[in-house]
Amino acid sequence: MHAPSPSLTARRAMHGNNALQIGLFGANCSSGRAVTLVPERWSGSWPDNKKLAVMSDEAGIDFLLPIGRWKGYGGDTDYQGTTLETITWATGLLAATKRITVFGTVHAPIFNPVVAAKEMVTADHISEGRFGLNIVVGWNEGEFDMFGVEQRGHEDRYEFAQEWIDVIKLIWSDREDFDFQGKYLNMKGIKGKPKPFGGTRPVIMNAGASATGQAFAVKNCDAFFLQASRTSLEESAQRVRRAKDAARAQGREIGCYTVGVVTCRPTKKEAEEYFHHCIVECADWSAVDSILALKNITPQTVPMAEFLSQRSGYAQGMGGLPIVGDPDHVANQLADLSKAGLTGVAISLVNYLNELPFFCDEVIGRLQRMGLRENRKQ
Ligand SMILES: Cc1cc2nc3c(=O)[nH]c(=O)nc-3n(C[C@H](O)[C@H](O)[C@H](O)COP(=O)(O)O)c2cc1C
Repeated sequence: MHAPSPSLTARRAMHGNNALQIGLFGANCSSGRAVTLVPERWSGSWPDNKKLAVMSDEAGIDFLLPIGRWKGYGGDTDYQGTTLETITWATGLLAATKRITVFGTVHAPIFNPVVAAKEMVTADHISEGRFGLNIVVGWNEGEFDMFGVEQRGHEDRYEFAQEWIDVIKLIWSDREDFDFQGKYLNMKGIKGKPKPFGGTRPVIMNAGASATGQAFAVKNCDAFFLQASRTSLEESAQRVRRAKDAARAQGREIGCYTVGVVTCRPTKKEAEEYFHHCIVECADWSAVDSILALKNITPQTVPMAEFLSQRSGYAQGMGGLPIVGDPDHVANQLADLSKAGLTGVAISLVNYLNELPFFCDEVIGRLQRMGLRENRKQ
């Protein structure tokens, strides 16, 4: 049976009807997003990813978002040192699933856009319109040296990314046999068939945090990741409003998403104890310190109090919003994010496969009863 061709609206809704979309973030990397030594930390292996994708698909999870990472962060675990490349990872998972949207997280500076456009179209056809693109321009991590590609200055990265996405959107459009002459890209006689599945195009996402990164997202993307405030719902709501207003000023609608780091257990006490065990007692502190050093955050460069607060923030899910508690608490926190205007939350779990069934039974069930999610469990 063939699914009807998805409209861009259906793609943006991740082929569902959930007021609050839920995705899983970071499962293509070893340790996922928990910088921890605990033995049950995430393997990132293909069999585990495949099982997780099938389980998520059946449970009605909306999307899987990978991390584009080429080198681990070292430490005792070589945090995120083993990673599956994201477009090929997505393609395999899309072939194994029926409804879930799977993103590729693609570094514009190291993927030729003609090759990337075709790889993504291939994933999109295999999945009948469930592939999504998360564009990244590269963080300040020195990953680029191993490609022999020079990392551009911050502003130039986004200027380049603009040309890159322009070429890709042209290839995905009805244009055939065209030249592209930009400041960075000079390409002749460009062709690309087939076009994306169903005459639309993949959903495009970006997570720029700087003013330039946000302007890029607002101009080019359907989905924008922003950091939710850890202390104020109103502050999160303002961030959402600012992004949506900026998009509307350009005649565009943008969905806003954030990152949550979930520890959910039957009781608050159990959740807090596990969180403390993983992320404080058993944190891979040497990996945390090397992540911070790449961002030039060391005891020598910032005041000690700030260093320590950044240190614990990074151990707790690399800056995502920690959501720790019993199912009522976790569901209420997620509902609050929806009230702040967020379209979706990409969550991570220490061991996705072990923890997802409880999360789905208890938290998703509550969100359904709150009217934030449809009941589409098989
Ligand atoms: C949800 C999320 C996912 C991201 N994924 C990646 C990634 O996989 N690879 C990467 O190099 N950068 C990733 N980033 C970094 C952003 O793309 C962006 O570079 C960062 O937020 C800094 O913003 P700026 O580029 O505007 O300075 C991610 C950020 C967020 C919040």
